[in-house]
Amino acid sequence: MEKTLNRKRIFLSPPHMGGLELEFVNEAFSSNYIAPLGPMVDVFEKEFAKYIGIEHCLALSSGTAAMHLALRHLGIGPGDEVFASSLTFLGSVSPIIFEGATPVFIDSERSSWNMDHLLLDKELESCAKKGRLPKAVIPTDLYGQCADYERIFSVCEKYNVPVIVDAAEALGARYKAGTRKEKTGNWEDGKEGGEWLHAGSGANAAVYSFNGNKIITTSGGGMLASDDKGLIDHARKLSQQARENFVHYEHEEIGYNYRMSNILAAIGRGQLKVLDERVEKKRWIFEYYKKALSDLPGIEFMPEPPYSKSNRWLTVILITPEEFGCDREIVRLALEKENIESRPVWKPMHMQPVFNGLRRKAQGAGHQANRNKKTYQSRVVGGQVAEDLFNRGLCLPSGTAMNEEDLERVVKGIRKKTLGIRL
Ligand SMILES: Cc1ncc(COP(=O)(O)O)c(C=O)c1O
Repeated sequence: MEKTLNRKRIFLSPPHMGGLELEFVNEAFSSNYIAPLGPMVDVFEKEFAKYIGIEHCLALSSGTAAMHLALRHLGIGPGDEVFASSLTFLGSVSPIIFEGATPVFIDSERSSWNMDHLLLDKELESCAKKGRLPKAVIPTDLYGQCADYERIFSVCEKYNVPVIVDAAEALGARYKAGTRKEKTGNWEDGKEGGEWLHAGSGANAAVYSFNGNKIITTSGGGMLASDDKGLIDHARKLSQQARENFVHYEHEEIGYNYRMSNILAAIGRGQLKVLDERVEKKRWIFEYYKKALSDLPGIEFMPEPPYSKSNRWLTVILITPEEFGCDREIVRLALEKENIESRPVWKPMHMQPVFNGLRRKAQGAGHQANRNKKTYQSRVVGGQVAEDLFNRGLCLPSGTAMNEEDLERVVKGIRKKTLGIRL
């Protein structure tokens, strides 16, 4: 027992510096721009924009801040609905609440685990009939895989609803439009032809995160990107306390202190240089697990549709207990015993107590302990797919500094738990 505890901990997705970061940080120090804003931030924004091919970028303190500013720009407020993926992280949807609007959670499709465009279409049609369209749609690019932009964008265009892509987990991922057979609408088998676009391309705006666990990190930070200069200019102003263009401090609207520090932008510049390498390594890690585990009964891997080249931020598996021999929680605990971190798939937003405002009230006095925790109204469209993915899904360690020995430890830990033990 002690022996296993002494083994080096394997984390889910720890930071992995490339080597140049410190040089840039030193440069920032010697310029004495130890401040939010500064030359490193300016260059980071430009280099980032060049990388993703979206014209205007704004470096911020977090991905959540980036989403918040995008929604503020769209003027979302009380009485409005905003559609979002149910299977996502809270930071994708909390800005809807910050602005007093109501989230509507859309279920996932099986083929990509991302927002189901058919459900989205149906719900938009029904909302249009009631004359109550949402103010925005926020599809998440889950675990580094782009949502089906081609279909989601065309549905939203039909109803003239803006799309803010939450690509927080998907920097470095690619999407290719036009890989469908014209007549049937089915996917072509091959991925030839067409252009691979970066995660977030083509949306009204896209949000990225540089949180410590992301494919590249600035310890904490985010980026808002858009081809709409007006959107980024307004978001830039809001991110700096909405200061007007006067010598003194003049304010015509309320803003935030959301800018990225010059020092953190220096880290970001170094990290951006190794992003392609990181994507390659993450995809290699996914393939390693797949090869090592797919012979086991009851194990499935997150699918990748023909239009997608995921960055495989995290390798995610589904465990079917009846076939595998135990559920994903038992596997998680077994890995934990081996000092290996793994994590359940995101708990869908429609299952989160904080979004069950009405149901919670109806439960009455039994929930006294929670009386100071404010809950919020929401709606869900479907939900069963996301629930199933949560119940069976486990994220495996996917840090890009992992070597084969580390991966083998994880593989052994999982194989030990199956009924058909093949070590
Ligand atoms: C899908 C998704 N959306 C939003 C966020 C929020 O980003 P941040 O942590 O930088 O605020 C994250 C990650 O943390 C995320 O995974």
